[in-house]
Amino acid sequence: MAFIKKRSGELTCNPFTTIGSEWFLLTAGTPEQFNTMTCSWGAMGVMWNEPSVTAYVRTSRHTFGYMEKAGIFTISVFPEEYRAALSYCGSHSGRDFDKVKETGLTPVTLDGGVGFAEAKMVLVCEKTYGQLMDANDFADSSIAGKFYGSDAMHKLYIGRILAAYVNE
Ligand SMILES: Cc1cc2nc3c(=O)[nH]c(=O)nc-3n(C[C@H](O)[C@H](O)[C@H](O)COP(=O)(O)O)c2cc1C
Repeated sequence: MAFIKKRSGELTCNPFTTIGSEWFLLTAGTPEQFNTMTCSWGAMGVMWNEPSVTAYVRTSRHTFGYMEKAGIFTISVFPEEYRAALSYCGSHSGRDFDKVKETGLTPVTLDGGVGFAEAKMVLVCEKTYGQLMDANDFADSSIAGKFYGSDAMHKLYIGRILAAYVNE
């Protein structure tokens, strides 16, 4: 398999199943020093006339520090056979574990971002916006109680899709 570069308009994925059911690895940092974590919340669409993605990262994540510094981040979506690797990356912190070593995933540099060779799709994104959510801003306050009682808030990051790679 090899990565073929596509325009975002050529992608055929359904964001509801790709993000919500298949999950993705959100990766930020340099090829020398990066961190990755599993996400199942996010959005794909258009913002400021640009094909864009939004990822939501709790400030308690090790990945948060990398996202804060990042100019580029990536979204890597995997075939089902890598579910265990994604579960690992979603239940262990890069503070304490070497996720690449433990999962056997292979980092690859794509347009300045770090993705993974085993992914079926990698979106390379340029960070355009970041905003910390505010518990006072929920129109439905039950969400704040349900999802943020004792847990850190999410910061949302919007990224312009610079390149979309599909493994064919
Ligand atoms: C299926 C799944 C989806 C997740 N989605 C998110 C998410 O969208 N945002 C988030 O902040 N954490 C999410 N997490 C939790 C992080 O992946 C998890 O806390 C991870 O260990 C953080 O790693 P880090 O400390 O190296 O950044 C998810 C975990 C799983 C298993």
